[in-house]
Amino acid sequence: MGLVRFPEGFQWGTATASVQIEGAWQEDGKSESIWDRFAHTPGRIRNGDTPDVACDSYHRYPDDVALMREMNLTSYRFSIAWPRILPGGGGPVDARGVDYYVRLVDALLEAGIRPFPTLYHWDLPQVLQDRGGWPNRDTAGRFADYAASVVRALGDRVSHWIIFNEPSIFTTMGYLAGIHAPGIRDRDAFLRAGHTVNLAQGEAFRAMRSERSDAVIGTAFNMSPCEPAGDSEADAAAAERWHALVNLWYLEPALRGRYPHAFVDGPPLEAMGVREGDMELVRAPLDFLGINLYTRTLVAERPGDAIGLDAWAVGPLGGNEGPKTDFGWEVWPDALYDMILRITRDYDRPVIEVTENGCSYADGPDANGAIHDARRIDFYRGYLAAVARAIEDGADVRGYHAWTLLDNFEWSEGYDQRFGLVWVDFESGARTLKASGRWYGRAAARNGFEV
Ligand code: FCB
Repeated sequence: MGLVRFPEGFQWGTATASVQIEGAWQEDGKSESIWDRFAHTPGRIRNGDTPDVACDSYHRYPDDVALMREMNLTSYRFSIAWPRILPGGGGPVDARGVDYYVRLVDALLEAGIRPFPTLYHWDLPQVLQDRGGWPNRDTAGRFADYAASVVRALGDRVSHWIIFNEPSIFTTMGYLAGIHAPGIRDRDAFLRAGHTVNLAQGEAFRAMRSERSDAVIGTAFNMSPCEPAGDSEADAAAAERWHALVNLWYLEPALRGRYPHAFVDGPPLEAMGVREGDMELVRAPLDFLGINLYTRTLVAERPGDAIGLDAWAVGPLGGNEGPKTDFGWEVWPDALYDMILRITRDYDRPVIEVTENGCSYADGPDANGAIHDARRIDFYRGYLAAVARAIEDGADVRGYHAWTLLDNFEWSEGYDQRFGLVWVDFESGARTLKASGRWYGRAAARNGFEV
C-alpha cells in the first residue's frame, strides 16, 4: 500500500456542460441552439432522446452544488449557454439568462467551490448557424462580443475562464463527420470552421482581457497521445501528423501564431480561408492549457485519406490491451501521463488543468438503491495516479475535473452512456451519489488516496 498525494491547493473538481445537464431549453428567453435543432431532427440521436429536460439543472442546481459540497470538491467546471445570454446570437443581453449563472456562481462561492465556466461547449445559437455557423468567418467576431458580455456580467465573481471546449472535436464531428450538430459533412466547411475558431479564440481572449485585465484564461483541448500502430517510420510520421491535427491545431496558433505540420502538403490555407495578418489575430497567450483526455490513439499511415493527412487512427477509441468502458473506450492511464509530459516538454512547462477525464459504465442501483460502480473507482485511481506521477516528473498540473458530476445527455448517444459520479433517474430527476462519488469525495478531502 502506498499513498498517492497531490500538491497543496490542488483543485478537485467535476465538469459538466449546459446542453448536457440544464434542460429548460425554451425557458427565460433562451433561443434554439444547434443541439436543440439537431436533437429534434429525427434519426440524429440514439432513441430519439433530446436535451429538452436533461438533468433539469436549470432548476435543480442547488442540489448539484450540495452534492459537490458533500464530495468536498473545490472546483466546478460548467458551461454557459450562448443562446441564454444572447438569444439573437448578438444584440441585447437577456438579463434572465445572466441571472441564472449569477445564482449558480453565487451558490458555488458560498459552498467554497471555484466557479470555472466554459464559454462555448458546443451550443451555438441556431440563428448563427443559419448565417453559416463556424465556417462563416463573421462568427469569430460574434463570439468575441459574446465572450466580452459574459466577462462583463460575471467577471466580478469569476476569476478563471475556459474559452472553448474541444475545438478539434466540435469542428470535426459537426462539420466533417456530421455526427454532431449541425450535422454537416463537408471538408471545406470543416477547414474553414477550424480557422474561424482559431480567430475566435484570439479575438475572444483579447476581448475578455480588455474587460478584466486579471482574468485567467485557457481553453479545454481534447488530447490523446498518438502512438504509431506499427514499427515503420511511416507510421511514426503519420502519428506525428495526427498529433498535430488532433492535439495542436488550436494550440499552436494560439501560443506560436502558426499552424502545426499536420497536412502532408502543408496547411491548405486557401481552403481554410486564411487571410494576410490572420496569424497575428489567432494568437492568444493562454494562461493555462486545459486537457480533456480519455484514452490514447494508435495511428497508421494511410495514403490518400479524405483530408490530406495520409494518416488514420486505427482505433480512435484507444488500443486493445486495456479493459474497455461501456462506450468501448480503452482504459489506459498512461495516456494521461504521456500527454501531460509531452505538452510540458513541448510548450515550456505551461500551467495545466485536467479539464475532463472519466468513463462510462452503466452500473445502476441495487435492491437497496446503492450503486457499486467499482470499475469507475479503478478508472479514477489509475488516471489520478498518472497525474500525480506527471507532477512528480515536473509537470505543473493545478487541478483535475472528473467527467462528470451527473449522468447526463451524452450528445448523439442520448442518455445511454452514463459517465456520472452521481446517478440520475431521468424520470424523476432524483440524484444518488455512486460509490465512485464517495470515493472521489474522500480523495478530495485527503488530497490523495491509497493504492
Ligand atoms: C467530451 C465532451 C464532453 C463529454 C465527454 C464524454 O468529448 O467534451 O461533453 O461528452 O466527451
